[in-house]
Amino acid sequence: MTSLVITNIGLLATPLGSQARSGASQGEIQLLSDAAVAVDNGIISYVGPAASAPSSGKVINAEGRLVTPGLVDCHTHLVFGGWRQQEFSQRLAGVPYLDILAAGGGILATMRATRQATEQALIEKAGRLLDEMLKGGVTTAEAKSGYGLSLEEELKQLRVVKALIERGPVELVSTFLGAHALPPKYADNRQGYLALLCNSLIPLVAREELASYCDVFCETGVFSPAEARQILTAARQHGLGLKIHADEIDAIGGSLLAAELGATSADHLLASGPQEHRQLAAAHVIGVLLPATSLFLGKPYAPARAMLDAGMAIAVASDFNPGSSPSGNLQLCMNLACLGYGLTPAETLSAVTLNAAAAIGRADRIGSIECGKQADLLIWETDDLDYIFYRFGTNLVHQVIKNGQPVDPVDKER
Ligand code: NIG
Ligand code: FE
Repeated sequence: MTSLVITNIGLLATPLGSQARSGASQGEIQLLSDAAVAVDNGIISYVGPAASAPSSGKVINAEGRLVTPGLVDCHTHLVFGGWRQQEFSQRLAGVPYLDILAAGGGILATMRATRQATEQALIEKAGRLLDEMLKGGVTTAEAKSGYGLSLEEELKQLRVVKALIERGPVELVSTFLGAHALPPKYADNRQGYLALLCNSLIPLVAREELASYCDVFCETGVFSPAEARQILTAARQHGLGLKIHADEIDAIGGSLLAAELGATSADHLLASGPQEHRQLAAAHVIGVLLPATSLFLGKPYAPARAMLDAGMAIAVASDFNPGSSPSGNLQLCMNLACLGYGLTPAETLSAVTLNAAAAIGRADRIGSIECGKQADLLIWETDDLDYIFYRFGTNLVHQVIKNGQPVDPVDKER
């Protein structure tokens, strides 16, 4: 029984397939005019001309508007206590991001605030942020731990993500990022923290199914490629998927490690070059690019065109976190992907839907509008694809549909 028909779609724009689109094919999307989509029990059962669509079930008249897949934000640090506006002034005065971290601020400041917050307070705060993201069209997101940095506190953050998964409607994929910074307690005992991660936390997180992926911040002064290798190897042994924060500030070997270990994604990649791009492409590691972080830290934009030319698949995400990207606005990231990376609207659409879904292992279920996929759709306040990449600074989503259900993300229950 058809449960929902979205009819009178002026333009339906979607990438196609169940895996990331790479190189030249990233910009090949399907465009259908005068279309309709039908949904049965949350699953898309018809995509095609409006004239031949099933006519039973609840009808949503799109009134000629643009419809795309729901947006997927595949890299966020959603669960955190406090904010870091004091550091913003320091950075404006010229203090580098890594110097603030080395002085005990940055990630460590958020660690203190996150440890102080109760589980319930973190659920409520992250839930409010998720509601905001949903209004902006994000129907699935990834969420990392990494502000607990001790056994109990990392587990607390991951339990918050679990509670938010149960809360819905935004779907979340959980990533364990215990290797986000060296906690002060282990300042003189790096090996001790690595042992805690590899021998206690990773096995526990995997056993309790508290995360699908393990990530490491591999950067000068944070975790070296050799340490990242140790952590990611342990994670792989316990069945977790692999991600890595690589080449964000310095290209010290993080992305080469991702290629070698067959990670699902290598994220940031600002400082990556041709050798990294070739190896990432050959190993089918998705490059997750975070343009709002470049904007906010005043850094260059990652060399996205060179990555596509090398045959890589690119996803774009918000990196939402209180330090380097205090915004979960993925629509702004879409604008920045065009402006900062020179991606086309079609390439960017793939980057925030199908490729982002692939970066969290969900491309078989979400990320495109095709029969058999979950009905996560957006109806936009326009009839034109270019418009949503060109207009910036305002929410252009007219209606979110998650799992075949129209969502009313207005603050009703708050
Ligand atoms: O992806 N690079 C490391 N982690 C985050 C920043 C986290 C923070 O500053 O709190 C990032 O940019
Ligand atoms: Fe990040």
